This record gives sequence, structure tokens and C-alpha cells, in this order.
Amino acid sequence: MSQQEQWKSKLGFILAAAGSAIGLGAIWKFPYVAGTGGGGAFFLLFLVFTFVLGMPLLLGEFIIGRRGQSDPVNTYRKLTDNPKWSLIGKLGVFTCFMLLSFYSVVGGWIILYILKIFTGAFNGLTQDQYGALFGEIIANPLTTLTAQLVFLFITILVVAKGVQKGIEVASKVMMPALLILFIGLVIRSLSLEGAMDGVEFLLVPDFSKLTSESILFALGQSFFTLSLGVSVMVTYASYLPKKQNLPQSAISIIALNIVIALLAGLAIFPGVFSFDLEPNAGPVLIFSVLPAVFNQMPFGMYFFLAFLILFLFAALTSAFSMVEIIVAAVTKNKQEKRKKTTWIVGILIFVVGIPSCLSYGVLADVKLFDKTFFDLVDFAVSNVLMPLGALLIAIFVSRKVSKDVLYEELRQGSRISQSFFSIWYFLLKYVTPIAIIVVFLDVLGLFKW
Ligand code: PFF
Repeated sequence: MSQQEQWKSKLGFILAAAGSAIGLGAIWKFPYVAGTGGGGAFFLLFLVFTFVLGMPLLLGEFIIGRRGQSDPVNTYRKLTDNPKWSLIGKLGVFTCFMLLSFYSVVGGWIILYILKIFTGAFNGLTQDQYGALFGEIIANPLTTLTAQLVFLFITILVVAKGVQKGIEVASKVMMPALLILFIGLVIRSLSLEGAMDGVEFLLVPDFSKLTSESILFALGQSFFTLSLGVSVMVTYASYLPKKQNLPQSAISIIALNIVIALLAGLAIFPGVFSFDLEPNAGPVLIFSVLPAVFNQMPFGMYFFLAFLILFLFAALTSAFSMVEIIVAAVTKNKQEKRKKTTWIVGILIFVVGIPSCLSYGVLADVKLFDKTFFDLVDFAVSNVLMPLGALLIAIFVSRKVSKDVLYEELRQGSRISQSFFSIWYFLLKYVTPIAIIVVFLDVLGLFKW
């Protein structure tokens, strides 16, 4: 989409921004990081970070995006006289590049699961067999790499053609369908024997389970699920007309995102406890639990298929946004360069993603800092680069853009009060940067006695 182009409707923007936000983060990542990070206490912390840090940041990104009306790198240059700030945009572009290199691996796993359903592979297995089957699927280098390539191929095709408009329309149907299916799944999950242990695990906080690392993960997760700190929301807002109500858009996106994460947790953890599994299984968690839950439903495999298709769609709409900002930054919104750039970017992402893809197979024993490639890239992106980007954006918006400009921009299309503005400004100027720095320092062990 070029700079001059704009979203067709108010809903179009919300759907695209929500499409970027809702993806693997809420559905795949949230249950597994909550599972490793302490359950209820993690969830509570995630909510606090989302409201206190994520919401002001999301609004901040929207404001500078709409004000700048430019690509992610140039926006920062345009809004200050110091070109150095455009580094924030460059960091975001790099982060999205690395992010998609492992995101596409998981996207590939979904595609493989869809194909497997047609072979009847999931019918009537025991829980252990589901886990083993998944392990087998992701250990095969050739199929997983091909699936990752297919996921990237679909992404590139859509972004190169600039057919996001079609996607906006499709989202109108897909998102509600995903919600409905999730609700059905949660109902089934909650009626499993021993389900309440899972609900308790997710909703009742036990703060003794929190560690410095899980606090960092909760922080990273709240930015990850809202696509924050990488200027994606800046870029999407740059295609906005002035009449859009920004606070309202931010709140709807956050609410939807939290609902989906909560539903994902309520679908997974009752299953985990009912089947006597470990909640801290890591990235493989939902792939080994969900087929077993679906299998307990009448017509389970049909529902599972529908779920996987919607899940894939959610992952793709997030992937589009990552490629979109890389392409917008490289081409500086010049249409004639769009196609070629998109393809080159896609190929490079695939190449960089190969070691992550092989981390569950031939490279499983290759570890750096005690992590596989997949885990390392995921950690660096979600828990270092995104919070760092968020910190810089919070500083930029609250200290480099004049307060009058911010107020004027925020009030375009909305009727927020002066006190709303002051609270938002305070959170962004002081609370967000301090909280991010404290969490970082805590992980480095500075507050250990
Ligand atoms: N928010 C997406 C998800 O939760 O799956 C991930 C994401 C998309 C992060 C785009 C960052 C981004 F720029």
C-alpha cells in the first residue's frame, strides 16, 4: 500500500491492526510462556503490562504514525530535526525481519498439521502419541523447511500484490469465526475431567512462581501480542485519515487480543491438566494438546481443521504486517520497487530462518547460551529487541514530539479530555521507560541481594 493510499474504512484499519496483533502471539505463544512462567501470576502481570505500558505505547505509535504519514524510518526523521531518531525505525525493521524468520517456522507447522488432518493421522491417538507425532513432524528437515517456505510464499504473494484490501474484507468473517470456534473449544475443554486444575493454574496467581526471567517474558509478551516497539503500528497508522478515533481503536484491539489470549489459555490448560501433561512443555505445547482436545469432540477433526485454517489466517495477517514495514522502509513507499523488494526480502528471511527451522530436528543439540537457534532468536526478538524498541519509542514520543502536537493529534477524531491526555502522557513519559529499564536491570541481577 503506498503512502497516498488510505484504509477504505474505519473498520479496515482496526481489522488490519488487529490482524497484525492477533496471531501466534496470543494463540501459540501466550499459553506456552504462561505455562513456563508461572500460570496465574504471569497472566496477571501480562494484563498489567498490557494496560499500563502497552496501551499508552500503542496509542503513541498510532499518533506519530498518523502525524508522520510516512514510512517507518522516515516518520522519525520527519517529526524531529535530528535524523538519528530514524534508528528506531531501522531497529524495528531489523526486528521484524528476525521475527518473521522464526514466526514462519511455526506458520509452517500449522500448514503441516492441516495437511496431516487429511491423511487421518490424528484420528483416535492417545495423548502420548499426539506428542510423539508432532515431534516426528517437526523433526523432518525437508518437510518443515518446505512448509516454512510455503508460509513465506503466501505472505510475499499477498504483500507484493498489495491485496491487503482483500484481506481486510476476509478478516471480517475470519476473526468472528475464530472467536466462535475458540468458545466452542473452551467449553469442551472445561468439561474435561480435572479441567478446573487448569483453570486454577491460569487464573489464580501464585506469586512465588515468578522469577526475574518470567517478569521479562510477561513484558515481552505484552509487546509481542500488540506488535509494539517495531513501528508496525506507526506504519499502519500512517495510512489513516484524520477522522479515525485513535483511543477507541487502541482499546478495541487490546480487548480483542486479551480475549483471544484468555480463550487460548482456557482451551489449553484444562487439557494439559486433564491429560496429565506438563504446562511448561514450551513451544510445542499447543500442538500436542489441541489435537487431543479436539479428538474428544463430536466431529472433532472437522473442527480442528477449521481451527487450523483460522489459526493460519491469523498468523498470516501478522506476517503481512512484518513484511509490510520492511518493504515500506526499503522502498520508501515507491510502488515500482514494491514487487521486487518483497520477493528479495522473503528469500532472505527464509535463508536466515533455516537454522531456527532445523532447531527441532538436525540442529536440536546445537546450543548457544544454552538455547537452540529457535529459542535464541525468539528470546532476542521478544525479550530484548521489542522492549528496547518500545523504550525508545516511548522516549521519542513523550520527549521529542511537542506536547501540543500530541494533544492535537490525539483529539483528531476523538473527544478525549485533558485529564485522559495527562494520564496517557505521564504513563508514556515516566512509567513505561522506567518499568522497562527496571525489568531489564532485574534480569541482569541488579536487584538481587
Ligand atoms: N502480534 C503478533 C502476534 O501476536 O502473533 C506478532 C507480531 C506481528 C509482532 C508483527 C510484531 C510485529 F511487528
